[in-house]
Amino acid sequence: MAVAEHMSGAPYPDGRDDTLNPGDRLLHGQYRIDSYLNSGGFGITYLAHDSLDRKVVIKECFPSAMCCRTESRVRARSRSLQKDFEKVVRHFGLEARRMSKLKHPNIVGVHQVFEDFGTSYMALDFVEGRDLQDIIEQDRHQLTPADIKQMLLKLLDAIQYVHEQDVLHRDISPDNILIDQTGNPVLIDFGAAREVATNASRALSALHIVKDGYSPQEFYLANNTQSASSDLYSLGATFYHLITGEAPPNSQVRLAALAADELDPYKPIPPRTEGYDHYFLRAIDKALAVFPKDRLQSAEEWIEEIDQARRQKAMRERARKDQELDLAIRELTATTNRELMATSEKPVPSETKPIDAVQPVVQSKPAKPAQSGRIPAAGDVNPEEELAETEKFVPLAESEAAFAEIDETLPERPQSFFARLFSRSEKRRASRDRNAESQSRRAPQ
Ligand SMILES: Nc1ncnc2c1ncn2[C@@H]1O[C@H](COP(=O)(O)OP(=O)(O)OP(=O)(O)O)[C@@H](O)[C@H]1O
Ligand SMILES: [Mg+2]
Repeated sequence: MAVAEHMSGAPYPDGRDDTLNPGDRLLHGQYRIDSYLNSGGFGITYLAHDSLDRKVVIKECFPSAMCCRTESRVRARSRSLQKDFEKVVRHFGLEARRMSKLKHPNIVGVHQVFEDFGTSYMALDFVEGRDLQDIIEQDRHQLTPADIKQMLLKLLDAIQYVHEQDVLHRDISPDNILIDQTGNPVLIDFGAAREVATNASRALSALHIVKDGYSPQEFYLANNTQSASSDLYSLGATFYHLITGEAPPNSQVRLAALAADELDPYKPIPPRTEGYDHYFLRAIDKALAVFPKDRLQSAEEWIEEIDQARRQKAMRERARKDQELDLAIRELTATTNRELMATSEKPVPSETKPIDAVQPVVQSKPAKPAQSGRIPAAGDVNPEEELAETEKFVPLAESEAAFAEIDETLPERPQSFFARLFSRSEKRRASRDRNAESQSRRAPQ
């Protein structure tokens, strides 16, 4: 069947012989090839129709350095490449299945993953539109700053989603972003499988899996750590190109310049670029930092930088967390205090030599006797009053130990918060000491 159907298609006029032809059928006739779209060294992309006559895009695993097509079947070029070829085909299928689980309006949908003719395929939703590379080259000025901001926010949302699933795109660039007819951007062509393929085989290791101008420097080095910020670098480069008309300099050249103590050849987007606010432009520069630690670390962080409403929401959220923490600390301090008071009220057994009682650091007033022996509940008193009260009795070393204990259990910004809290306590103590001193000076001798 394969041979007959392959032969049914008219050959391509440019003499390509390693591609499927129009009319070729895949998966027992479920898909019919309409035309060839592109060949990227790792795979071949075709336009096709499915059995319900819907337009789809078919990606075929075809690492041309290690395979060829004979009578429709794809096979390794030599026996020595057989194992590596099988490995690449297997990885293509695995990555395609992983991709098929991603469901997001700005990520191309995967219809089906299957094997046929000795290799793997995926059928993708057809996106009617143009790629961003084409738009940058032809109609960059038709997009308003508002359009560009909307586009970036949507892509950041998609990338945040992808990263939450522990997937990196690895090949974000203008030619891998399609803009549909409503202006919606769609991410295509995930590159993770290609990386596995180049690592799997020496025959493929010479193939470039980096794109100059868009790939961060860590992509040029084998086995280097890649992170969310690597994808954000590529997205930053894509929008830098869209806004300025030029891709940023190659990240390896930038790295070499910095290593030689020279100026980074990267030119930040001019601050007064019409239509863009400061936050928006600086965020792109930040995403494009050479060293991963200096970049924006997550899509969420980037969104907060450029979307005022999200920024304010995040600030409110952080303030709320600080308040909750504040309250938790007050309660803990009060409890520690009560326990201390209870301990110091216990009679010392006559045969026991009194040990040095823990002395409060500040004890300007004697402790209030507990009313009717009841331990007050947290809600009984005004927290401000309680804080003022408890501060007088908690030995500093003890409260520091208690704070350090909480400190360990709190992942979010504990340092700055505790630093603030301590400096507040210190200030109050200092001001009380000053008052006491001036009162004693004023008191009649
Ligand atoms: N889902 C799609 N809908 C419409 N057009 C698509 C779709 N997927 C890919 N294309 C078109 O095909 C071109 C090539 O596809 P793609 O980017 O997936 O592969 P590639 O970069 O050629 O190959 P490789 O995966 O080997 O790098 C795209 O630039 C785009 O024009
Ligand atoms: Mg591509």
